[in-house]
Amino acid sequence: MKTPGTLTVPGTLTVLGIETSCDETAAAIVTDKGEIRADLVLSQFEAHRPFGGVVPEIAARSHLDHLDRLIEEALATAGLDFADLDAIAATAGPGLIGGVFVGAMTGKAIALARDLPFLAVNHLEGHALSIRLCEAVAFPYLLLLVSGGHCQLLAVEGIGRYRRFGGTIDDAVGEAFDKTAKLLGLGYPGGPAVERAAADGDPGRFALPRPMLGRPQLDFSFSGLKTAVRHTVQKLETPLAPRTVADLAASFQAAVGDVLADRCRGALARFEEEFGKRGPLVVAGGVAANGYLRERLQATAGTAGCALLAPPPRLCTDNAAMIAWAGIERLRLGQADPLDFAPRPRWPLDQMPPPDAPAVPHEESSQP
Ligand code: KG4
Ligand code: ZN
Repeated sequence: MKTPGTLTVPGTLTVLGIETSCDETAAAIVTDKGEIRADLVLSQFEAHRPFGGVVPEIAARSHLDHLDRLIEEALATAGLDFADLDAIAATAGPGLIGGVFVGAMTGKAIALARDLPFLAVNHLEGHALSIRLCEAVAFPYLLLLVSGGHCQLLAVEGIGRYRRFGGTIDDAVGEAFDKTAKLLGLGYPGGPAVERAAADGDPGRFALPRPMLGRPQLDFSFSGLKTAVRHTVQKLETPLAPRTVADLAASFQAAVGDVLADRCRGALARFEEEFGKRGPLVVAGGVAANGYLRERLQATAGTAGCALLAPPPRLCTDNAAMIAWAGIERLRLGQADPLDFAPRPRWPLDQMPPPDAPAVPHEESSQP
């Protein structure tokens, strides 16, 4: 299968990014100078709210209904036309596969029609590199990637060079936030609701577990914490009083903060041993939008003698600017993907090929 459009433009690169891997339809236009010319995110919260979580079929249909218009709007916002674009970057996994198909196929169609390079972007690589869209951060850095589906610590040694230090053995941290929100009657989406409720709560009122605290391995576990929240709620009188909701949300958030800080402390020590360098610690993914957790991680990094770097909250939660940027990072290394690149529901970051690796087969990854 043909790889369209070789890159010939020596000046500024302008790339359209497309993101459809979960419940946000997003289109953005970004340049290789780090300029975000347009960054549109259409959340599907209202469509999924009655179900208390994301329904894959509804998500895919909604991407299909809105993506074309959103791309047109992104071009209009940037004051550009398709003819001004140098490449198309679309999330090709991991994620809810119906939605990933919508975005990837749309990206491929534009690339084919306009004879532009197509970049099949790993959504997690989008999060992992998002900090470099915001500031000049050199490799290597330690990454805490915390989102709705992922919780992992990785050494980011370069584009496509990710080494996993640890990950969750059960739930992702965003999932724990979402389930806690549901138990507290805070609805969907859960993370921001828990953060708001916790703002004036007493984090010391409920004693919740801190799974994995102090363990030498750098793994995480959140299912025990989630179960402890459920048991605590079951023992309380319902409906829960607003004060109780605030205190339980704050107690939960404090437990998460303790665990993340502890695991990052260990990972920073290992990072220094391996790279002879103190950090920096980079945090990315939807949960990194949480102000309390950012403060906790800031303190952890400070104690370890390094900086905490975090994208602004808008670039932590799902967006297409980070997808365009990950595309730009690979494009600058001369990479583009063929139009038969198969979207994949699973695509672990530490199994990404570095850009200079031999060509990868394009069938779906069989790895978990
Ligand atoms: O990165 P993201 O937008 O999508 C995935 O790739 O999963 O992350 C979404 C997750 C959700 O679980 C959401 O509840 C959580 O990030 N989240 C938050 C906050 N904002 C979003 N969790 C805690 N505090 C927040 N402010
Ligand atoms: Zn994400």
